Amino acid sequence: MSKRYTITAALPYTNGPIHIGHLAGVYVPADIYARYKRLTGNDVAFICGSDEHGVPITIKAKKEGVSPQDIVDKYHEIIKKSFVDFGITFDNYSRTSAKIHHDTASEFFKTLYDKHEFIEEVTEQLYDEEANQFLADRFVTGTCPKCGNEEAYGDQCENCGSSLNATDLINPKSAITGNVPSLKETKHWFLPLNKYEDFLKEWILKGHKKDWKPNVYGQVKSWIDDGLRPRAVTRDLDWGIPVPVPGGEGKVLYVWFDAPIGYISATKEWAQNVGKDWEPYWKDKDTKLVHFIGKDNIVFHCIIFPAMLKAEGSYILPDNVPANEFLNLEGKKLSTSKNWAVWLPDYLEDFPNQQDVLRYSLTANAPESKDNDFTWKDFQARNNNELVAIFGNFINRVVVLTNKYYGGIIPEASEFSEVDNETLAAIKAYPSVIESSLERYRFREASQELMNLARLGNKYLADEEPWKLVKTDEVRTKTIMYVALQIASALATLCEPFLPFTSDKLKGILNTTDNSWADISTKNILIPAGHQIGKGELLFSKIEDKTIQEQLDKLEASKKANEAANKVLEPQKDIITFDDFTKLDMRVGTILEAEKMPKTKKLLVLKVDTGIDIRTIVSGIAESFTPEEVIGKQVTVLVNLAPRALRGVESEGMILMTETPEGKLVFVNPDTAVNSGLQIS
Ligand code: 2FM
Ligand code: ZN
Repeated sequence: MSKRYTITAALPYTNGPIHIGHLAGVYVPADIYARYKRLTGNDVAFICGSDEHGVPITIKAKKEGVSPQDIVDKYHEIIKKSFVDFGITFDNYSRTSAKIHHDTASEFFKTLYDKHEFIEEVTEQLYDEEANQFLADRFVTGTCPKCGNEEAYGDQCENCGSSLNATDLINPKSAITGNVPSLKETKHWFLPLNKYEDFLKEWILKGHKKDWKPNVYGQVKSWIDDGLRPRAVTRDLDWGIPVPVPGGEGKVLYVWFDAPIGYISATKEWAQNVGKDWEPYWKDKDTKLVHFIGKDNIVFHCIIFPAMLKAEGSYILPDNVPANEFLNLEGKKLSTSKNWAVWLPDYLEDFPNQQDVLRYSLTANAPESKDNDFTWKDFQARNNNELVAIFGNFINRVVVLTNKYYGGIIPEASEFSEVDNETLAAIKAYPSVIESSLERYRFREASQELMNLARLGNKYLADEEPWKLVKTDEVRTKTIMYVALQIASALATLCEPFLPFTSDKLKGILNTTDNSWADISTKNILIPAGHQIGKGELLFSKIEDKTIQEQLDKLEASKKANEAANKVLEPQKDIITFDDFTKLDMRVGTILEAEKMPKTKKLLVLKVDTGIDIRTIVSGIAESFTPEEVIGKQVTVLVNLAPRALRGVESEGMILMTETPEGKLVFVNPDTAVNSGLQIS
């Protein structure tokens, strides 16, 4: 039966592009679900947008010396375009700086204020005297009182998912100056979450939420069992939605108060654009509201936002919140700040027209019930061993043989064998098999069921061997090819939620777009005899080791560059006197000869003309230079360093070098050719 669905995907912070962690955790499963619900005839509003307020944006703007608006304008466009290019089919991708959102969030706040749902209170909050600013949310870090994570933020610990007040942090430190904050009084509006404990218990614990994913249900239960406390929903910041009530001057709404309301305002904006009424999508009890999020957002979507909706009074509550766990990358936590990520715009550039490969590998390996690891090797294997070898291979064989034997015209079937009948019956069962996984938000399982249908096709062809029979039994061959084409046609429809680009391509090859999801289990003929299909075209191509190595090298290089950029400089050494300095005898030297020290990786043995003499210096530069590269170079030499033996060779001095951020050594040398022996002072 057709239903109305409001499907939301977490609004991404607009301070950087989307990476594979966001895709695997939120956007790919949400898109699969939305596509599936549309394909099965439901009325779907799939909603997202840029989360443009909050401290991460302000911090990024400060770092880059631009305004927060500049940051959100830049990343909003980048994120929005990459979602479109990746085939994420939001009905609306809005943004929280839009007027419609400011108005909606302000009205929401005012409604709660007018209903006396807030506690207005002056409390002591963390304050950075030097920056002259209150420290909330990501402006302050400290140790989480619940799990001991030393990098918890003022509103949340990302390690254990706890929602915190900044004053809960142990050893708080300002993220602006690094200073230890003081306490200063300020007025804020608090949502008394404790007042909603009974409602939440009734709704989640006693209600029908046992079918929620165990990780989500478990977290929510433990927070409710721990007891809820009032939570400030305003901040002393200047970037955000102004607090719209008396006394709110100079203050803004807490970003986690305004962001989820962004789902509502984005729905309103969409409804306006397409001439619909937005209200049933948020207020009709028959609408199913589903929030796709990462696990760090559970508390906001399962406790705080529902409490806000309940306090307002006219909204429905989420039917499910299928939060995913985290995706790691090559065994390490994904990190925007450490640049340890695969960014969507980069992927789209490096792998043009291969969106489905990433969609598939992220789904087949989704972090659904535990954190999971993305590796480029696994990505390659999913492509080469599954998409190419199973799905692509089956379609290719069917299309090539149909063209070869029948000029691309689907042959008439004669009598079906038992295997044919079983195969045709199996096709009909697939929609409900896949549906059963999708309804339980098991996207990995669903993607494997889809692949099983392609496996079934391969096995059918391998067992029936039409390429052999064609020489002896034309009638039987036609029947086999007819059955195989029914499988290909079913795949074209059923793969759409998972592999939308492939689905379009395959429908193009089969020259048909006729079947709905329901048709696969109800129609006896999915693609009729006499129908002309198109020419073959490879759906997927093999990814070579070289391509994978390039991605691994790219990751390594970005990690190194990042380490270099964040390298902590050694503190200055103890002061020396001028007399100490004059003891150093530094001269311009010219390298006359160079050879590698046998059995070492780092050492070169150099003959250097110091102007005073020609001497041997052993230098640890062999990883940065070949002997040929240094011969003839002028360098700075400390000539009066006490000689010392290295691997049995006496080294009589030291060559001065520095190291680039990438770890390459460079000489400290005169910028024009001069005579050897000139003193450096
Ligand atoms: O964690 C995040 O990236 C948040 N920007 C998610 C917000 S979801 C919603 F409530 F808007
Ligand atoms: Zn914690």
